Amino acid sequence: MSKSTLLPLLADGEFRSGQELADVLGVSRTAVWKQVNRLAEESGIEIESVKGKGYRIPGGIDLLSADGVLDALAPRPLSLLSRLAVLDSVDSTNAEVLRWAQEGGAPGMVCTAEQQTVGRGRRGRQWVSPYASNLYLSLLWEFSQGAAALEGLSLAVGVAVARALRACGAAAVQLKWPNDVLHDGRKLGGILLEMSGDAAGSCRVVVGVGLNVAMPATAANAIDQAWTDLKTISAGELPGRNRLLAELLNELLPLVADFEQQGFKHWREEWMALDAFDGAPVVLHTGSGELAGIARGVDQRGALQLESTTGVQSVYGGEISLRAAQ
Ligand code: BTN
Repeated sequence: MSKSTLLPLLADGEFRSGQELADVLGVSRTAVWKQVNRLAEESGIEIESVKGKGYRIPGGIDLLSADGVLDALAPRPLSLLSRLAVLDSVDSTNAEVLRWAQEGGAPGMVCTAEQQTVGRGRRGRQWVSPYASNLYLSLLWEFSQGAAALEGLSLAVGVAVARALRACGAAAVQLKWPNDVLHDGRKLGGILLEMSGDAAGSCRVVVGVGLNVAMPATAANAIDQAWTDLKTISAGELPGRNRLLAELLNELLPLVADFEQQGFKHWREEWMALDAFDGAPVVLHTGSGELAGIARGVDQRGALQLESTTGVQSVYGGEISLRAAQ
């Protein structure tokens, strides 16, 4: 019995007796009990067990569903989407979509999953990806003019994510160059673009987005930076994950479809308005050392403008991290 068979039966938050679950799943009550315990342990999801009533997930759980996402897609994004795979568990949605790309997958293919076992972050880090708690999304697109035409794409993706969050009621989101999504200085989401193909000609890009929605405390122990989630920052109702996913796709699909023609200049002003570090003293950690200065936004190509005593220099993305100067 896998998570995907037991969880949907408890997703509405109502009690289900052990016998009822056993009958639906065609196993013994003891097998149900064992699976409930394993599920609670592996996922960090609280499953209440009350004698005479059975099992329930207090408050219920919002599982991903392709129909739930498709129903909330606007006409143009829907026309740009060529596949939506909603997986139970995968190593990494980016890795999965890169595999599709190698097998000749089409632009507009999207993969999301309840859980990533080896979620990838920037700079070789792990992206903590517990079950049915957050959002993990990867989108495949093909660009014809080579990597140079894609400068600033990951920054534009940050703007698209901020727009989607705003549409779901999370307004005070900011961006940190090159592409962290922050709330009040804490990381709410991350963006990882991976490329396959010819950097000078036609190339395929996987746009990966991870958003912390309701991070279980057990999983959070593995996060090594200041983080937050939508549950913490939402004053009112937490948006459903399917709605959130749909809003992300409503923004991301038109963005990738139009980016080669528009370029980052189309997104720059909005990025600048969301910049968490504008005018702040910062230190950039690059592979070869540190650069200190005042962050002055980004140029038309998405390069950070770093002001120091010697003038303003443009710093391009890559494996660089930006921190507030102490
Ligand atoms: C970062 O380190 O800030 C980038 C994190 C990107 C995480 C997302 S989750 C969906 C997609 N699949 C992955 O393995 N990584 C990205």
